[in-house]
Amino acid sequence: MTTLSIGSTAALSLRADVLVIGAVKGKDGAVLAEGAESVDAALDGRLTATLSAVDATGAEGELHRVPTFGAAKAPLVLVVGLGEQPADGFAHETLRRVGGTVARALAGVKKAGVVLPLAGAEAVGAFGEGVLLGAYSFETYREKSREGRKDAVKDVVLLGLKANKAVKAATERAAITAESVNHARDLVNTPPNDLNPKDFAAIAVDTGKNAGFKVEVLDDKALAKGGFGGILGVGQGSANRPRLVRLGYTHPKAKRTIALVGKGITYDSGGISLKPAGSNETMKMDMGGAAAVLGAVTAVARLGLEVNVTGWLALAENMPSGTAIRPGDVLRMYGGRTVEVLNTDAEGRLVLADAITRACEESPQMLIDVATLTGAMMVALGNDMYGIMANDDTFRDAVYDAATRAGEQAWPMPLPADMRKQMDSPIADLKNMGNSRMGGGLIAGIFLQEFVAEGVHWAHLDIAGPAFHEGEAGGYRAKGGTGVAVRSLLQVAQDVADNRI
Ligand code: BES
Ligand code: MN
Ligand code: ZN
Repeated sequence: MTTLSIGSTAALSLRADVLVIGAVKGKDGAVLAEGAESVDAALDGRLTATLSAVDATGAEGELHRVPTFGAAKAPLVLVVGLGEQPADGFAHETLRRVGGTVARALAGVKKAGVVLPLAGAEAVGAFGEGVLLGAYSFETYREKSREGRKDAVKDVVLLGLKANKAVKAATERAAITAESVNHARDLVNTPPNDLNPKDFAAIAVDTGKNAGFKVEVLDDKALAKGGFGGILGVGQGSANRPRLVRLGYTHPKAKRTIALVGKGITYDSGGISLKPAGSNETMKMDMGGAAAVLGAVTAVARLGLEVNVTGWLALAENMPSGTAIRPGDVLRMYGGRTVEVLNTDAEGRLVLADAITRACEESPQMLIDVATLTGAMMVALGNDMYGIMANDDTFRDAVYDAATRAGEQAWPMPLPADMRKQMDSPIADLKNMGNSRMGGGLIAGIFLQEFVAEGVHWAHLDIAGPAFHEGEAGGYRAKGGTGVAVRSLLQVAQDVADNRI
């Protein structure tokens, strides 16, 4: 694991394997960024000449390695491009991405010193978060193929900073945030044969012990007793029984409670409405919402934020079998409403409906659900952005604003009231899908809205697009599970604690 620290040694005398310095875009190529002066001077200005000789531009993420030939204790300088130098300092998201790029470039290195223009505690935090997220890769299942792979950089020391209280707190927050995101990534990446609802619940119990929050697990017997027909219905086709997990974090001075509800389908085959080959290979990711909720509650608890948070993990495996629900079955949901299931692949909304109803019984002021819910949201917003729907425009905008500040891409989507009638059932209270594929993401949101108690400010995050990254690693994003929504949820909790929401 990578550790981040703040050092007081001068760059030239740090015993390290690499010194990281920055370059920005100039008119005629790269110009060394603030912080690099001593290193450049020690090399008698040859650094600038070298960058020019290799046609460095200073573009964001550009990397060049230059030997120090004994001019510094570290044998090598890594020059990273920061892009255009803005008048008011680098954007936090730029620093986060550059941090990730640096971390990946440092793979195999034991110790690196960093001197970059990080103005203020938040900038330090953003860069640090990027480093710790960028250093992530999922290696658990490599045996033979581990040979020749470099370990993540061990120690990253930030130099040239005033190590005041704010900077120390920002570094600590970056570490807690990144560890929570990386834990969510691990959960998403773990294959479904090693992460069923029971396994996930056990991990939640352990996590709660370590981070200091309460965890209660309802197993299938308890779910049957409580009448959780949605979760039980979705889970009944699998040999791995479903679970509902409640996470509880409280702060003695907190005045408000946020409930976070995560879709935790540990594998989504589609059930009897089976997904075709090509659509099920990545469906281990269908618990990404629950992973984000666990990550966020963990971070909130470790940071000791002044807010109460409950987390609800709706865990089930959606499988076809002789015991599975059929298209045409009617489920009696928790709370008594009936739902006609016309497509067993629209299972997320069924488990969420039970969890939302249950969460609302505790009268939280706010409720946010997170789910890899619809392919339609991916069609609408692509792979890098999640959709935000809400029963309250002000709350929706507040969640959007928090997401943006946290560095997660999202976009507000509507919940048109007239689409509700598409889910009228000829025999039950509701059916679990609309009349066509059109607007499928909104239909799913409107379905969930039915289960939100009056007076609760509710937002729904459809993370189907950004939960899993099938492309190559880039910036601070690794291949596979992204841990998306952890940082947004944490920022919302922080904003509530700060009375900003
Ligand atoms: N888990 C899927 C949604 C999904 C698709 C997530 C691709 C990530 C990538 C969800 O359970 C699902 O199957 N939704 C259906 C709903 C439809 C049957 C109404 C969909 O989007 O096709
Ligand atoms: Mn499905
Ligand atoms: Zn699903």
